[in-house]
Amino acid sequence: MNEEAVGRGLRRSGVPRDELFVTTKLWIQDAGYDRTLAAIQKSLDRLQLDYLDLYLIHQPFGDYYGAWRAMEESLRDGRVRAIGVSNFAPDRLMDLILHNEVVPAIDQVETNPFCQQVDAQDFMRREGVQLESWAPFAEGRNELFRNETLAAIAAQHGKSIAQVVLRWLVQRGVVAIPKSVHKPRIAENFAIWDFELTGDELDRIASLDTGCSLFFSHQDPEMVRQLGTRVLDI
Ligand SMILES: NC(=O)c1ccc[n+]([C@@H]2O[C@H](COP(=O)([O-])OP(=O)(O)OC[C@H]3O[C@@H](n4cnc5c(N)ncnc54)[C@H](OP(=O)(O)O)[C@@H]3O)[C@@H](O)[C@H]2O)c1
Repeated sequence: MNEEAVGRGLRRSGVPRDELFVTTKLWIQDAGYDRTLAAIQKSLDRLQLDYLDLYLIHQPFGDYYGAWRAMEESLRDGRVRAIGVSNFAPDRLMDLILHNEVVPAIDQVETNPFCQQVDAQDFMRREGVQLESWAPFAEGRNELFRNETLAAIAAQHGKSIAQVVLRWLVQRGVVAIPKSVHKPRIAENFAIWDFELTGDELDRIASLDTGCSLFFSHQDPEMVRQLGTRVLDI
């Protein structure tokens, strides 16, 4: 729901297109072959772009097989450079891979120190799908920015908790898309390439895993109903 503003921002920034990586997503109401083709064009128009770097199916609901075929076509005609999914559990991902031509480049799922997605990542690695973390900081839930284990590791390296979390994700081979509206924090979140977490530190972070989402389960039928009937004004 921010494509128009992002499009204006990109245009005003003057940053060359090939230095940008732009991802956007398909909402459930636009699932299905024809609607997805139209949705991709609408996104391009709002973003004022000729192509997207990555296009994701936001949720594994509705006619996402039709959507995937439209996305494969958009990949072939160059309107999209890579296609992937979001919030797909391994079983849904496996089924999509089995019954289509293109393997999703990415599965964007909640991944943070309290919800580490270790088994899902193993599965994705075997199938050639890159795990991308949404909510890398758990959006601050569970007192992440005051967690004692993370704070101790951060102090050891003279880094912030945010930087330790991002470094941990990178060392695990997870793509992270941290969000901040503050310029100094955005810079801080990039400054993670001058230190390395030790094996012991990785083990201590591994012990924080609860194996559960801090948000909701995509397998909860009531959530599926709520999301599946939510019509976005886009
Ligand atoms: N696929 C999906 O279903 C899905 C679901 C949720 C989110 N996402 C995406 O995931 C990306 C990540 O965003 P997110 O909202 O989930 O949350 P997040 O990155 O886990 O957390 C964002 C929060 O952390 C704060 N923060 C960021 N950097 C910080 C720093 N260095 N120190 C202290 N606080 C810091 C931000 O505050 P300030 O902004 O005030 O700095 C904000 O409150 C976004 O692109 C979002 O669109 C995808």
